[in-house]
Amino acid sequence: MNLGNGHGDATASELLRAQAHIWNHIYSFINSMCLNCAIELGIPDLIHNHGRPMTLLELVSALHIQPTKAHCIHRLMRTLVHSGFFEVRDIEEADRQTGYALTCVSRLLVKHNPLSLVPLALFALKPFSTGQWLSAWLGDGEDVHSSTFEMAHGVPAWDAWRNPKANCLFNEVMASDSSLIAKAVVDTCGGVFEGLSSVVDVGGGTGTMGKAITEAFPHLECTVFDQPHVVDGLVGSERLKFVGGDMFVEISPADAIILKWILHDWSDEKCIEILKRCKEAVSGRGKFGKVIMIDMVVGNQTEDHTSTQTQLFFDMLMMVTFNGKERDEKEWKKLFVDAGFSGYKIVSHLGLRSLIEIYP
Ligand SMILES: C[S@@+](CC[C@H](N)C(=O)[O-])C[C@H]1O[C@@H](n2cnc3c(N)ncnc32)[C@H](O)[C@@H]1O
Repeated sequence: MNLGNGHGDATASELLRAQAHIWNHIYSFINSMCLNCAIELGIPDLIHNHGRPMTLLELVSALHIQPTKAHCIHRLMRTLVHSGFFEVRDIEEADRQTGYALTCVSRLLVKHNPLSLVPLALFALKPFSTGQWLSAWLGDGEDVHSSTFEMAHGVPAWDAWRNPKANCLFNEVMASDSSLIAKAVVDTCGGVFEGLSSVVDVGGGTGTMGKAITEAFPHLECTVFDQPHVVDGLVGSERLKFVGGDMFVEISPADAIILKWILHDWSDEKCIEILKRCKEAVSGRGKFGKVIMIDMVVGNQTEDHTSTQTQLFFDMLMMVTFNGKERDEKEWKKLFVDAGFSGYKIVSHLGLRSLIEIYP
């Protein structure tokens, strides 16, 4: 029995499935958060009073939500539909329009229903204060806070995590994920590094991915590029360097840029800025120049209800924490085109995430 690396003989796909199972259980509190938010906003009552399925626009308008946050209501409702609280139905009198309808479950969440479970739900959900923060952020007419996290903590997440203790903890969390993903990348799609001599791992944290790929591919030099407070004091090796900087300003040139779990933290506008900096960094590298992105493609496993549910949990988590987003393939393609890239290829599905090459 091999106890040395802690995962015995498990294959990359077994490890990814195990990770997906644990994530589903860790983030199942997001079901409670979404339920809490829907009740706080009175969504079951609004749909009940509307008398027929309610379109997204009708719901946004009835909730007095700013149009810039309409996509958040769409994502909240998508998660709640997936969990069986609402359903999407055709609206009979309107051609090809669909709307949200109550299910047997959400009828019990209408406040004036004599059988209503709202008092119990609000009492039991009190510890899940993120649900209340989310409903407060959605209804925030001033829109001064870019995320629920910022409203709750007074500063954006990236500022809060500059604190040395928080920085350490966050980097440790990221490193543990990168160990697992690096094993999957090296074992199943190492071909993406063929022909390359240099890569920059943008937002590469404390270098777990960088170390793994320079060890696995001796022809490769890797620069781990992250915020100065993340990489300050880290010691590399001959083929592994740490550089502090800001990915919105400039990224050092290389054959390829790695973006692992970066873009889901950011809005579409910010992603386009990052992707443009990446394109500048790899342009001029001829046929080798590319971006290697690892992130979720929502719906890459639609046949698996639990996997899609976990991806939707992450979408809500990114929305709440950073005003970021998990994207489906159509949404990714639009970002790549808007940032000026000429093509892309989904090379591999790594469990809930995918590895995508993007070409300048
Ligand atoms: C979700 S973590 C991903 C870390 C690593 N790629 C991984 O998957 O383990 C996002 C990383 O982006 C970095 N980051 C955030 N803003 C940045 C910026 N403006 N310039 C460079 N890195 C940044 C963070 O410090 C953090 O390490």
